[in-house]
Amino acid sequence: MTSQIVSPAEMDQAIATLRAGELLAFPTETVYGLGADASNPDAVRKIFKLKGRPSSHPVIVHIQDVTQLSRWARDVSPMAMKLAAAFWPGPFTLVLKRAPQVSEVLTGGQDTIAIRVPRHPIAQQLLAAFGGGIAAPSANRFGHVSPTLASHVRDEFGDSLLVLDGADCEIGLESTIVSCVMDIPQLLRPGGITLSQLRAVVPAVSGVVTQDAPRAPGMLDKHYSPDTPIHLIHSEDLRQVADDYRRKGQQIAVLAMQPSINTNNFTSWINAGDNPLAYGHSLYANLRQMDKLGTMAILIEQVPGDESWQAVRDRLQRAAAK
Ligand code: TXA
Ligand code: MG
Repeated sequence: MTSQIVSPAEMDQAIATLRAGELLAFPTETVYGLGADASNPDAVRKIFKLKGRPSSHPVIVHIQDVTQLSRWARDVSPMAMKLAAAFWPGPFTLVLKRAPQVSEVLTGGQDTIAIRVPRHPIAQQLLAAFGGGIAAPSANRFGHVSPTLASHVRDEFGDSLLVLDGADCEIGLESTIVSCVMDIPQLLRPGGITLSQLRAVVPAVSGVVTQDAPRAPGMLDKHYSPDTPIHLIHSEDLRQVADDYRRKGQQIAVLAMQPSINTNNFTSWINAGDNPLAYGHSLYANLRQMDKLGTMAILIEQVPGDESWQAVRDRLQRAAAK
């Protein structure tokens, strides 16, 4: 098993990399981040360049703990503080009004800033040693599947990028984002923390994104996508659709919640099970594995409609969007 901290020598190299204004990848409990010194606009620009990400898409600043918040945000409401106290460190990101000295490069020109305190031991070790904020989107090319293993990051960006290896990410889906910029806190992206968990702390949290909510440009319809076309299929249609491809002699990959109903040379079948946490944990690794097969299509069995599946459902819908 990979150690949950890195050696002093590797940490020295990581800190030197950040201080030199260069990029590195590091694990969090959600997905791997592509990090840069958040106080150095030139370093942050390199993130956008390497990812191929439009400069209008703001990035999350990672900090060690809530005491560093005032460096980045202003007018933090009592509700925001309650959420921070409940879910930091963890898979949770707050969108707040930005402090005056925060660079527009981080915020995509908006007056708001996204902040997260991750709990992965290596992320915590890195933030403690660095002292400042680390800007980090997911460590993947723009619009592509997020990485949940160090090897995924290398597949995206090659071997020249320093990657701190923290084995597989515990949650495997990106953080829950809540905007506390307006009076009513608003869920912008479902993730490791569910709406019920948020409401248990602050009952007012809204799950409906209204029109004047701050835009979260990462929430483009098409996102988290492999290259192979993805089709979401209802459970009762799965066998029929898989058979139709086979009859045409077309290879497919299937991501299902049940054992294979269709063993033949044309079909590669992954049973991801019916536990939403385990399913989410391995979703991106499964998508990457299926994408590599180069099949005609990826068929994904529709997951249940209840809240425990909300984050998974959201990512599947985006992965399948045309
Ligand atoms: O789990 C995560 O959140 C991972 C790890 C590395 O922390 N990060 C991540 O970053 O998913 P990224 O850049 O791939 O997604 C961040 C999302 C994007 O949809 C972005 O538009 C949104 O957060 N966002 C960032 N700043 C924002 C802001 N000021 N207002 C609204 N949305 C914002
Ligand atoms: Mg991303």
